[in-house]
Amino acid sequence: MATAGKPITCRAAVVWEVGQQYSIEKVEVDVPKKGEVRVRMTSAGLCHSDVHMQHGSDKNWSFPTVLGHEGAGIIESLGEGVDRFEKGDIVVCTFEAYCRDCDYCMSPKTNVCRKQPRNNLQMDGTSRIAAKGKKCSQMGSLGLFSEYIVTSEFNVTKVNPKANPNTLCLAGCCIPTGYGAAMNAGKVTPGSSCAVWGLGGVGMCVIMGCRDSGASKIIGIDPNAKKFELAKQFGATDFLNPKEVKSVPETLAQMCKDGVDYCFVSVGILSAMEEAFNSSHPYWGKTVIVGLNDTGSTMKAGVWELLYGRQLVGTYYGSYTAVRDIPHLVDKVLNGQIQLDKLISHRLPLDKINEGFDLLRTGQSLRAIIDFDIKA
Ligand SMILES: NC(=O)c1ccc[n+]([C@@H]2O[C@H](COP(=O)([O-])OP(=O)(O)OC[C@H]3O[C@@H](n4cnc5c(N)ncnc54)[C@H](O)[C@@H]3O)[C@@H](O)[C@H]2O)c1
Ligand SMILES: [Zn+2]
Ligand SMILES: [Zn+2]
Repeated sequence: MATAGKPITCRAAVVWEVGQQYSIEKVEVDVPKKGEVRVRMTSAGLCHSDVHMQHGSDKNWSFPTVLGHEGAGIIESLGEGVDRFEKGDIVVCTFEAYCRDCDYCMSPKTNVCRKQPRNNLQMDGTSRIAAKGKKCSQMGSLGLFSEYIVTSEFNVTKVNPKANPNTLCLAGCCIPTGYGAAMNAGKVTPGSSCAVWGLGGVGMCVIMGCRDSGASKIIGIDPNAKKFELAKQFGATDFLNPKEVKSVPETLAQMCKDGVDYCFVSVGILSAMEEAFNSSHPYWGKTVIVGLNDTGSTMKAGVWELLYGRQLVGTYYGSYTAVRDIPHLVDKVLNGQIQLDKLISHRLPLDKINEGFDLLRTGQSLRAIIDFDIKA
């Protein structure tokens, strides 16, 4: 049945108000406008960033909203002037645009695009998804917990067609964010020591990045000891349960001779960020913040603790230019270097999205994903 050129009625998981559960609704997805594409979603991952936004971490978020920013799908139709894609292409959706034209895109100093809206709408300031006649914001201009989405052609990237679209979602956030934290933001050097706070999907990808950078010691830190076995399979060499030691920085100073070379925080907890900073080597240790927290929240970093050369940096999307770099990461998945399938603990139909997030929040899942081809 030809769908191009007409609005599509399909199902999406909508959050009507801050803090509410997902509600499966019939939604109307518009025809793509000039420079836009419409994508039939095949998979979408449940990331902790969705949890943060559902519960109001971003004070400016507008509801109702369709969350979901980690996903893959197949191009269904193209708006006017789009010639980079064809109907049927397998794409990964990216929550940061790459227009290849603005001063930010042209600069090697950043991976953000000046054209990326920061209000979760499309570039013209409107949304393409409506539920019960109400326009919904689309997380990262995407809103991937929907069977179809419309977004800018600058927010999707074509990847090797051999990739499995029903699991490829992880290439949209978890993999670039974690792997890039080690590769690009950390720039981990061979033989160094690394510690990773938070062994969720993102943290496991940080571990793979540290492993592939040749780190000799990779310490996984998590109060949920059930995560350690899998972390070992991704390359962690040592483990620490913060509940079992008096002081994490002191314990790490003993394990790593004065302090850890590279500390990564892939959990959105301020005390873990401070703990990591204080565990980094006092003269050259680098701390990379990956986890999110509420807008306006702050972490403490002592001036004297910085004085001798410690570094504290943040990373967004693993500091990758997502549209340009994700196809290369997908190739690493296909050649077995990045173990995507091992990251997936549950595959669920869209209807089970609330159960999926319960699994994430209670630490029972690693990455639960929505496989849109599984019918409830
Ligand atoms: N910077 C970015 O671009 C970006 C992108 C994606 C995700 N994120 C953020 O990364 C974080 C991780 O996402 P995820 O989906 O992997 O989350 P997750 O919920 O799967 O994993 C978090 C892990 O942290 C552990 N944890 C809880 N308290 C801890 C503590 N005090 N010390 C150490 N570990 C602790 C949990 O047991 C869990 O295993 C989130 O805050 C998410 O919003 C940031
Ligand atoms: Zn994410
Ligand atoms: Zn740009």
